[in-house]
Amino acid sequence: MRNYLVLTLITCCLLSNCTPKESITNVLISKEDAIEFKIDSILSKMTLEEKIGQTAQRGKSSRVKELPVELKEAVKKGEIGSFLNIMNKDDAKELQRIAMEESPNKIPLIFARDVIHGFKTIFPIPLGQAASFDPNLVQKGARISAIEASTYGIRWTFAPMLDISRDPRWGRIAESAGEDQYLTSIMGEAYIKGFQGDDLSSSTSIAACAKHFVGYGAAEGGRDYNTANINEFSLHNTYLKPFKKAVETNVATLMTGFNDLNGVPVSGNKYLLTEVLRNQWGFDGFVVSDWNSIIEMVPHGFAEDEAAAAGKAANAMLDMEMTSTSYQDNMKNLIEERKFSENQLDEMVRNILRIKFKLGLFDKPYFEPESDVLYAKEHLEAAKEAAKKSMVLLKNKNQILPLSTKKSLAIIGPLADAPHDQLGTWTFDGEKARTITPLTSFKEDGEHPILYSKGLSYSRDKSNKRFNDAIKIAKNSDIIVFFGGEEAILSGEAHSRANLNLPGKQESLISELHKTGKPIVLVLMAGRPITLGNIIDKVDAVLFAWHPGTMGGPAILDILTGKASPSGRLPITWPKEVGQIPIYYNHKNTGRPTIPEEFVQIDSIPIGAWQSSLGNTSHYLDLGYLPQYPFGYGLTYSSFEYCDVKILSNEINENGPIIVSAKITNTGNVIAEEVVQLYFRDMVGSITRPVKELLRFKKIELEPGASKIVDFVFSKDDISFYGLDKKWVVEPGKFKLWVGKHALDQTHELEFVIE
Ligand code: GLC
Repeated sequence: MRNYLVLTLITCCLLSNCTPKESITNVLISKEDAIEFKIDSILSKMTLEEKIGQTAQRGKSSRVKELPVELKEAVKKGEIGSFLNIMNKDDAKELQRIAMEESPNKIPLIFARDVIHGFKTIFPIPLGQAASFDPNLVQKGARISAIEASTYGIRWTFAPMLDISRDPRWGRIAESAGEDQYLTSIMGEAYIKGFQGDDLSSSTSIAACAKHFVGYGAAEGGRDYNTANINEFSLHNTYLKPFKKAVETNVATLMTGFNDLNGVPVSGNKYLLTEVLRNQWGFDGFVVSDWNSIIEMVPHGFAEDEAAAAGKAANAMLDMEMTSTSYQDNMKNLIEERKFSENQLDEMVRNILRIKFKLGLFDKPYFEPESDVLYAKEHLEAAKEAAKKSMVLLKNKNQILPLSTKKSLAIIGPLADAPHDQLGTWTFDGEKARTITPLTSFKEDGEHPILYSKGLSYSRDKSNKRFNDAIKIAKNSDIIVFFGGEEAILSGEAHSRANLNLPGKQESLISELHKTGKPIVLVLMAGRPITLGNIIDKVDAVLFAWHPGTMGGPAILDILTGKASPSGRLPITWPKEVGQIPIYYNHKNTGRPTIPEEFVQIDSIPIGAWQSSLGNTSHYLDLGYLPQYPFGYGLTYSSFEYCDVKILSNEINENGPIIVSAKITNTGNVIAEEVVQLYFRDMVGSITRPVKELLRFKKIELEPGASKIVDFVFSKDDISFYGLDKKWVVEPGKFKLWVGKHALDQTHELEFVIE
């Protein structure tokens, strides 16, 4: 039921002497219509300069202490609509005061910040949170982040990042939800609901921003900012889907990317910003550029100068310009030269004012700085839970984990006590002083005798001067727990890597430690999968902790000591070597798919072999065709059995649902969580279809010996695709289904037919 405001209209009959009381008319109009009414009213009073002002977002370097006078003057004239990175509360209040008391139309400013995976309390990096396969947990973390950030006057975050990322060389994969469009869509929905809350006008709700629209994660070579070439079918069937889900979830804003998509930079792409986003999806929020992404269309070679770039962005319907000033500098001329119209500008301003009204900023422009919510106990608990649920156990030879209390530990490695790096990329406001590291946690726990030696000063350290010290404590301990991986700076924006092995001398140190004969538990903190080929056989267990955030230490302690069973699953396929990339699971079958029997290992090829004598299928002679670990993979401290996997009911040809059911049993002796995954394959299509696509997942917790029936429900819409005729279709034919533990698990196969 739409909220109705009773809007009392006093309509005085101009030609008669009726009194207001006789002609008061109570008219029920919707809240949305009332906002449009108010927008029209404000627009009618705004000058052209003020309208252009609303499209301007300005930043201030956090290194500049004083608030520049020119910013205050511009606000007073109504020539700025938004700020990012104003982290001094007094500055934020003063700017808002000027806007509300001294500017011509008293339009409130909207303050923005990158609150990506926490504000003060830092949660695992988004790629790690995706590994939890737990949207409720992600939503809770986003809600907490909004509560903390809004105490600084921040009412808009530049998150969630919904770029499909299939290339771990790309540093920003850390910020994504991985390679799968369904998981990314579900995670995006959770972030948006968490940030925006139940009521966007609440003082603790902050506008979310689905970014980077679209295709930024397909940067060629995994090199940030690089070209993205995505055919129209992949664009609709993969890359656009999470953004469509975000719009259906009422995301307040979107952000365009830096990249060009098939030759057209997305910040000037009318097909995306007007045809798809507005006309097809009906989006009614506003779109902000990325940092200078409008004027970067000049170096892209898409605009000859900044005026032309402004014209392309504005005509594509990009509403707000982040940091650069091409709109402010050129829009008036563009209108005078009839290269743009004031009506178009009115639409942009309307989109911006609509979100400001929905945020309640006109009624409540000021914020209440509450410091007791920052790092609140329940926030830290939530961050610890998120860290625990995101960690992925990749190897556990001879069940060396969980650690038994009788064993003494040698804690070694550059990330055992690295409070800054543990927070991960895009952590602007989290404080390393509040980070609890694994070393701290093990010391406080006291359950294990421990010796500590860093071995390497930081992840890229190439010096072996500390090796002997590390080897010595290893020889005097029962088990080595090595904390390795990447410093935070090695992932994130502009931080792509061509070699994904452990940086520095970490592999050398692990090899030296291996010579001691002591078992090694490798705990990895990184923003991306790390290629382990050189050391995987030298370690007994691998726990991937991502960059786990403020509470990473207590979370890792609980997992390693068995207080909790690891439950994360990989949101990204883990390559053996960089040379395999891209190696995502939902690939096409090709005309020559590889099957084990036909794959010839390079060293077994006879010398002088006849040219066409090898298995002519799609694989590498030296690395085959399988990843190190598949999408959806992760171990627990227990074991699970799947049985009674069946189609419970099938009404799909009557436009009803299909219900798939499976009985899951915990066959181990500890409580643990299983992520039950449902995949499908459309066997034949008007365009080739992926060998598998994630359709549903459910994370369940079971006591030892307990069973649970898991049902999955889906309909035709869920298996439709953007076909050869450029329409969304479900074509007749055979479909397969799998219920399994990861993308390569084909144990339980079902099928159905669309007539
Ligand atoms: C950056 C990023 C974007 C971020 C923005 C503001 O360059 O690409 O994701 O939100 O600038 O910091």
